[in-house]
Amino acid sequence: MSPGRTQVAIVGAGPAGLLLSHLLHLARIESVVLESRSRDEVQRTVRAGVLEQGTVDMLRDTGVGARLDREALFHRGVYLRFGGRTHHIDMEGLTGGKRVTLYAQQEVVKDLIAARLEAGGEIRFGVSDVVIHDVLSDRPGVSFRQGADAQRIECDFVAGCDGSHGMSRHSLPEGALARHERMYPFGWFGILVEAPPSSDELIYARHDRGFALVSTRSRMLQRMYFQCDPAQKTEAWSDDRIWAELRSRLETPDGWTPVEGPITQKVVVGMRSLVFEPMQHGNLFLAGDAAHVVPPTGAKGLNLAAADVRVLSRALQRFYQSRSRDALEGYSATCLTRVWNAQRFSYWMTMLLHRADSDTSFDRNRQLAELEYLVHSRAAMTSLAENYVGLPFED
Ligand code: FAD
Ligand code: PHB
Repeated sequence: MSPGRTQVAIVGAGPAGLLLSHLLHLARIESVVLESRSRDEVQRTVRAGVLEQGTVDMLRDTGVGARLDREALFHRGVYLRFGGRTHHIDMEGLTGGKRVTLYAQQEVVKDLIAARLEAGGEIRFGVSDVVIHDVLSDRPGVSFRQGADAQRIECDFVAGCDGSHGMSRHSLPEGALARHERMYPFGWFGILVEAPPSSDELIYARHDRGFALVSTRSRMLQRMYFQCDPAQKTEAWSDDRIWAELRSRLETPDGWTPVEGPITQKVVVGMRSLVFEPMQHGNLFLAGDAAHVVPPTGAKGLNLAAADVRVLSRALQRFYQSRSRDALEGYSATCLTRVWNAQRFSYWMTMLLHRADSDTSFDRNRQLAELEYLVHSRAAMTSLAENYVGLPFED
């Protein structure tokens, strides 16, 4: 293949773009990944932590699971805390052995970058002015700048994997995509803490002051979140104020408190549910956050990105083997079934655990009744468990 030509041009080296490039390589399909940030920046972005069983299996089955197997934390389930009581949801028992895996997104990204580069794959970091051309023709292209050089790559297909703020979906004509959106009147304040774990498994807490989540990254690094105003500035929150808030929202009658330590990162993230439909236009295919965004409560975003590129890589493989476009034409519909279920689940988890200023005493009591029902019904816990650890893939 001459320089300037590839089979699939991929915009974005997040989990979606990198995993797609890796899966295509295993299917002997060439790709070039274009990423606006530096490798170092991409590898330092702290985001997801929870991987579905199917995502873990996919990473293992495709040869990028070795470090995950050594370093990830595997949990049987999660705790739900409300009204001062803590209830264990035994996800492994309820789903016939599927576990909750804690392995940071930036570690997945590091493993995928290493695998691609080791296999001779091409990832162009630090590109700018990416423009996608001619997706309705069978000769699409992507132009971009790298340093002072203006370049263009011709390809058969373009994969828009450039996240929720990317440009690829904006290259479609006005009206080509329907936008389905819901905003939430709250965000998450996230911290990274240098301390041992506060709990052996994640704690999702509902409190009258708002939601809180105790998560983990490793034996010495913890991740915690609490619901906040999405317009909140991190500077407004001293370490002492953060710990006081977390202690109140996580309180139990026996005096449980989170293990404190130096806070090394503070971030406020907004929450929204968003789907663009269809996830394709001509020879452009959108995957991951470029096509849909979920609130993080259900821990689904990265996992959905992985499911999308699994479908896309198989459809592209089918095309190159048989010249049949059938699977490619069905890409959006196949993905959207899973996407809408993840939207439903993420919305439900969010509304189950967060408080809105507009909530009435009716809303509060209905929410508590829903939680009570959930932790006392095996059917309801099974529904939570099978969605959280991840529903099986279509095929
Ligand atoms: P991204 O990770 O956003 O990657 C897109 C890439 O494209 C970026 O590297 C970007 O620099 C690049 N790019 C953008 N524009 C351009 C351009 N014009 N040209 C070239 N490159 C470009 N998901 C889970 O599954 N489990 C969790 O536990 C979880 N927790 C989360 C917690 C938080 C606080 C947040 C914010 C998210 C969480 N998520 C979780 C969601 C998850 O992080 C995202 O869904 C995931 O990053 C999506 O991957 P992606 O590759 O589609 O997009
Ligand atoms: C995380 O550890 O970052 C995390 C865990 C659970 C979620 C979201 C994020 O639901």
